[in-house]
Amino acid sequence: MGNVLEVKGIRKSFGPVEALRGVDLTLQSGEVLALVGDNGAGKSTLIKHIAGVYRPDSGEIRLDGRKLDLLSPAAARDLGIETVFQDLALADDLSVGANIFLGREPTRRWLGILPYIDNGLIREETAGLLKRLNSHVPGKAKSVARLSGGQRQAVAIARAIYWKAKVVIMDEPTAALAVMERQNVIKYARELAASGAGVIYIGHNLVEILDVADRIAVMFRGAIVHTTTAGETSQETLIKYMTGYHDKQAGAQRPEQEREKRHV
Ligand SMILES: Nc1ncnc2c1ncn2[C@@H]1O[C@H](COP(=O)(O)OP(=O)(O)O)[C@@H](O)[C@H]1O
Ligand SMILES: [Mg+2]
Repeated sequence: MGNVLEVKGIRKSFGPVEALRGVDLTLQSGEVLALVGDNGAGKSTLIKHIAGVYRPDSGEIRLDGRKLDLLSPAAARDLGIETVFQDLALADDLSVGANIFLGREPTRRWLGILPYIDNGLIREETAGLLKRLNSHVPGKAKSVARLSGGQRQAVAIARAIYWKAKVVIMDEPTAALAVMERQNVIKYARELAASGAGVIYIGHNLVEILDVADRIAVMFRGAIVHTTTAGETSQETLIKYMTGYHDKQAGAQRPEQEREKRHV
């Protein structure tokens, strides 16, 4: 399948901090691309550009070949870019189904005139989705507030699957989860990719990364310094790139300009 997402030459500074120094990235439909790198490497800043939170100082992002302009998080979602953050943007006081259909509720018309929300359809679709994810989420729970971290992830992922998201961004989805729940989230990432989405998966646990990813991109100080397939790499290699080993090998004398070119 072709590239669903193309990031070209994205630069972003916060005051004096160059958070992104010219990032190029492609994402295909049906793949899980893991993004790894030390704290502060720029991973979250990069995906927030894709999710419509930030605008780049320069560079562009294309979805299905079309340039994304003036993006907001809501506009990104409408275009099929869903984000599953660690502290999820679920509406705590709403039910599972209401969260999945939030802002996109199916309606029917009473006597062909008065529109009302089709709660029967919401219940039915929600039950089917949860069953498919095999998530053990209590679909009838009155609110999602009391669900576990893993169950909340499952709800967000059910939402992405139901609405056929083109791109799903998972930023450290397992960071706060118990071991069993981590396995589920990895399974969901694969399920999303199998359903045709391109998945960007940010994580720290390299065992997990090598398990979940098709491809892996390593960020170091605001640039992608290495891209590989999961099958062709190892924890040792990834750690080398994450810690800037390649940089020292190349020599620190080199002018900044040239170093940047090499990273892109
Ligand atoms: N809103 C912000 N204001 C100022 N600096 C920021 C902001 N967001 C991120 N940064 C800086 O940009 C760099 C990259 O951060 P971030 O993208 O969060 O890294 P990562 O997710 O890889 O840990 C860091 O130096 C961080 O301090
Ligand atoms: Mg981060």
